[in-house]
Amino acid sequence: MDEKVKVEHLTKKYGDLLVLDDISFSIKKGEFLCIVGPTGCGKTTFLNLLTKIIEPTSGNIYIDGIPADPKVHNISSVFQEPSAFPWLTAEENIEYGLRIKKYDNKYIKEQSSKILALLGLEDYKNVYPRDMSVSMEQRVVIGRAFAMNPDLLLMDEPYGQMDIKMRYYLEDEVIRLWKVTGSTVLFVTHNLEEAVYLAERVLVLTNKPATIKTEIDVGLERPRKVSSPDFVEIRKQLTDMIKWW
Ligand SMILES: Nc1ncnc2c1ncn2[C@@H]1O[C@H](COP(=O)(O)OP(=O)(O)OP(=O)(O)O)[C@@H](O)[C@H]1O
Ligand SMILES: [Mg+2]
Repeated sequence: MDEKVKVEHLTKKYGDLLVLDDISFSIKKGEFLCIVGPTGCGKTTFLNLLTKIIEPTSGNIYIDGIPADPKVHNISSVFQEPSAFPWLTAEENIEYGLRIKKYDNKYIKEQSSKILALLGLEDYKNVYPRDMSVSMEQRVVIGRAFAMNPDLLLMDEPYGQMDIKMRYYLEDEVIRLWKVTGSTVLFVTHNLEEAVYLAERVLVLTNKPATIKTEIDVGLERPRKVSSPDFVEIRKQLTDMIKWW
């Protein structure tokens, strides 16, 4: 197995509050992994450990076999609240990280046109965030993240604010971006249907202190249909699993 991320005995306490309790798992290269868990169980804490925003109490995280380090690894994050840079257009937002990394201009333009095309936003490339809807702004942020060809893309409830129709649209879009870029994606959600729709594998966390309750291999072909019997069956399995939430 080509292992991208390895998490070993990860434990996090805030003072006396035990949040993550000895969590171990790995993520394959190019995998789309969803993590579901009850409110406050430690999902965002886990993502913040990966990006070293906070330090673990004990345990280790490796990316490509070496300790996770944002200075070494190319990790992109997308949060629930859209965070496009207000002073930059859609296109400039998408190019932002590539310019920081000082790629040559030809590559930057190729990357941004590819991403704008995948997002169907070519006609909106000169628009500023103040003139975008929340969903469009979030799409630009997601485009900015994928444009970096990240080693690992972390998404924390990125569609939490979207209505159901927009969600379906955006879920297909993120799958398209994932397929084209071959990124490894770790996607956190409360929404079980969303997890079954997106993920190759779903990790289910317990209530705090969080441990891994179980994992489910989704293994359905794409595009997935939320009304297909196989889909409904897997969603039901997952729902049964979280009755204790
Ligand atoms: N900096 C902090 N200091 C102290 N406690 C914290 C801190 N950050 C989070 N917590 C606590 O740790 C627990 C896990 O929080 P976290 O935000 O990781 O959960 P979550 O699973 O992302 O929740 P949600 O589903 O609401 O996004 C919560 O009880 C929270 O109050
Ligand atoms: Mg959270």
